[in-house]
Amino acid sequence: MFHKSLKPFPKDFLWGASTSAYQVEGANLEDGKGPSCQDVKKVPEGTSELDVCADQYHRYKEDIALMAEMGFKVYRFSISWSRILPKGTGEVNPKGIEYYNNVIDECLKHDIVPLVTMFHFDMPAALDERGSWSNPESVDWFLNFAKVMFENYGDRVKYWLTINEQNMLTLVGPVIGTLRLPEGCTNVLKETYQQNHHMLVAQAKAMALCHKMLPGAKIGPAPNIALIYPNSNKPEDTIAAQNMNAVRNWLYLDMAVYGKYNNLVWSYLEEHDACPEFHEGDEEALLSGHPDFIGFNYYSTGTVELSDGTEEGGGDQQNSRGLPGMARNVKNPNLMKTEFGWEIDPIGFRNTLREVYSRYRLPIVITENGLGAYDTLTEDGKVHDPYRIKYLQEHIKQMRLAITDGVEMMGYCPWSAIDLISTHEGMKKRYGFIYVDRDEFDLKTLNRYRKDSFFWYKKVIASNGEDLSDL
Ligand code: BG6
Repeated sequence: MFHKSLKPFPKDFLWGASTSAYQVEGANLEDGKGPSCQDVKKVPEGTSELDVCADQYHRYKEDIALMAEMGFKVYRFSISWSRILPKGTGEVNPKGIEYYNNVIDECLKHDIVPLVTMFHFDMPAALDERGSWSNPESVDWFLNFAKVMFENYGDRVKYWLTINEQNMLTLVGPVIGTLRLPEGCTNVLKETYQQNHHMLVAQAKAMALCHKMLPGAKIGPAPNIALIYPNSNKPEDTIAAQNMNAVRNWLYLDMAVYGKYNNLVWSYLEEHDACPEFHEGDEEALLSGHPDFIGFNYYSTGTVELSDGTEEGGGDQQNSRGLPGMARNVKNPNLMKTEFGWEIDPIGFRNTLREVYSRYRLPIVITENGLGAYDTLTEDGKVHDPYRIKYLQEHIKQMRLAITDGVEMMGYCPWSAIDLISTHEGMKKRYGFIYVDRDEFDLKTLNRYRKDSFFWYKKVIASNGEDLSDL
């Protein structure tokens, strides 16, 4: 669709960026914090431990001041469950509560809206030992955690996100370091979807609880959504794309919005003897949660062709290897790739926004989008990252086209506000506007430097998205 003129970004559009606790904070066992599954996992070979990260725990004031300097309207960060509840349930850690009070107050001091992710890949290790999301009690554990957050922060936090990338926890949990299976588990797919089911129920109940406890607050999910293209105009490739879209994307949003399983996914699970068991009250609980908006992470699209049943599952968040019997993943020759092999598809961003909005008709906030790259700090303290500026320019242009198409956008939070540790590629894969002076294993000064993209994004925000030009 062509447009004669572009609609502007909404007046109160939330420009900002994102991080997650286990990737940015460090201080992973300090001030009473219990370990999370991320602290006890074996990190991928050649990548840093997660004990220091960007050291935001000790430097949040400096970091938030830098975000304010860029003009951030919103900061999306996550609360570490085991920092405020070291064992996941039971005793609350006052130091943990205090830390997030400080972060929230610091944001508000700078007129930055806190957008809080309740769960970002960091199940308390103590709960992992009790069966993690396989245990039906996990729903109550999460609800209790939600209640503690709402009670302590609900007077100031008006925007909440439930579970970051639940679809990736389900599809590529081992890569992220989150999948715990009960001993002797023989049907991994069934167990994984049982865990997924518990998360879905927990999410629905948390949304309902949020509305009950905090009537003025808004809450939504935050999956990783990537529209899946058919590889050709062969009708059977469209079947494959529909299958993959259902398993990767729509299952999660259909559940969040309508409280019902996507029929294609249910049929796939039936075929594999992997349907989750519903416990008493689950059906009503799933129907009781209603998001106020949709948050989603967007990095790229995917392309698939007809499955012959022999493909392997797995991959990482963006490099799916396909799903046996559902779809075979193929490379898209029309797209460039990042240095880390993820396809780049800005037009796919518009496609995805259009599709999500027309399916669900809820305002959208982009909770992640960005370019992981090797950055270099020059001797005079600069980081020239034109590749990141280009990536963001192209995506913001497409977001504006989507707004002109009629998509209701609330905000844009690229990944990431500041350099942090990647999920499986360590410190070397950087995303931030703010450079952190450390290497994979050498902590150096941990000083902060403004990248070129920092100055560029400042200009974008100051012009409310009108000025995307190079520096
Ligand atoms: C998302 C996650 O999958 O992508 C983040 O929510 C993650 O936690 C980001 O860091 C980028 O992925 P990666 O693997 O490059 O760190």
